[in-house]
Amino acid sequence: MVDFIGIERIQELVARRGAARFIEELAGEIEADFLRWSVFDKSPRHATHSPVGVIELMPASDGRLYAFKYVNGHPQNTAVGLLTVTAFGVLADVQTGYPLLLAELTLTTALRTAATSALAARRMARVGSRVMALVGNGAQSEFQTLAFHHLLGIREVRLYDTDAGATAKLEHNLARLRLPDLQVVRCGSTAAAVQGADIVTTATADKRNATILTPEMITPGVHLNAVGGDCPGKTELHPDILLRPDARVVVEYEPQSRIEGEIQQMNADFPVTELAQVLAGQVPGRVSDRDVTIFDSVGFALEDFSSLRYLLRIHHEERGTQQQIDLLPDLDDPKDLFALLLPETEKLSSRPGVPA
Ligand SMILES: NC(=O)c1ccc[n+]([C@@H]2O[C@H](COP(=O)([O-])OP(=O)(O)OC[C@H]3O[C@@H](n4cnc5c(N)ncnc54)[C@H](O)[C@@H]3O)[C@@H](O)[C@H]2O)c1
Repeated sequence: MVDFIGIERIQELVARRGAARFIEELAGEIEADFLRWSVFDKSPRHATHSPVGVIELMPASDGRLYAFKYVNGHPQNTAVGLLTVTAFGVLADVQTGYPLLLAELTLTTALRTAATSALAARRMARVGSRVMALVGNGAQSEFQTLAFHHLLGIREVRLYDTDAGATAKLEHNLARLRLPDLQVVRCGSTAAAVQGADIVTTATADKRNATILTPEMITPGVHLNAVGGDCPGKTELHPDILLRPDARVVVEYEPQSRIEGEIQQMNADFPVTELAQVLAGQVPGRVSDRDVTIFDSVGFALEDFSSLRYLLRIHHEERGTQQQIDLLPDLDDPKDLFALLLPETEKLSSRPGVPA
């Protein structure tokens, strides 16, 4: 039997843990794995593109556990009542190759993306950052707000989305969350939202080289958390922002980000730092209060590896619906797979010719 975490169970787990504590614990797991970066078997994810979206497979292993995530990105889906991003994944034992857990990763992706954004911002944003602009108020936006409120101390979020309904939904959900001391400000444009912000999070979905942020919007010292550009031909930042002399760009895994990140717009020798180096303290995330720091996030398999391991642990810790599924055959003789297709009465009690 294989442990199973579906939507109901993840709702239960987040409710039992509390969303803020869940994100904080997840951030701890992700950071711990980035700190042992060299032990991981890493590769850029395998992307299968179509005119309307992408389906990706994301594997990672530390030699003891193996994980993969299936994830899609279809920006036009919301127009027909479907999510832009859905995901599920598997955690397996490297020793036997047997899966240990099959889990939903749609909610978990939003939680882990927010956790990773906050981890990067803790090292890259100016100390004392309190105001965040949030451009793109769709599925990821509440999670980003929660993480930055809880882990960074953000006390004002300035919202903008081309779809006013998405902003109204976010406002409504944030009002229900009642995050202590959080001021929510609705803005009429990206430029208005960004003005005066210490941190700018972009989480828009559009399958093109969009320019959500343009050079004149950027002030010295700001931290950009660019989440939405995560595919070839799908970016959010004007290239001149990356080319500023005071810009410092951090990516998760350089070989993947060169293909998918904001830096796909740059030459192959454009200087970047990997998040693992920043988290390990080998390279500073920020040198001066005037640096423009950019976390060019695309989402890396290690974050899902950490998430699946964390999910399995709390699934066993927390009471409630402990579901398992019969994904794997349980055989008396592992060489007699065919026995599964025989009626009970015709099965051998032992191998022929072998004394019982
Ligand atoms: N980096 C990562 O690890 C990671 C993880 C998950 C999702 N993503 C990406 O983040 C993006 C957002 O994901 P989501 O699940 O919230 O999608 P979503 O479709 O639910 O929300 C996206 C929002 O962006 C808005 N938008 C589109 N163009 C805009 C513009 N020009 N200005 C302002 N708003 C605009 C849309 O109206 C929509 O409300 C997607 O591109 C997704 O692929 C990245």
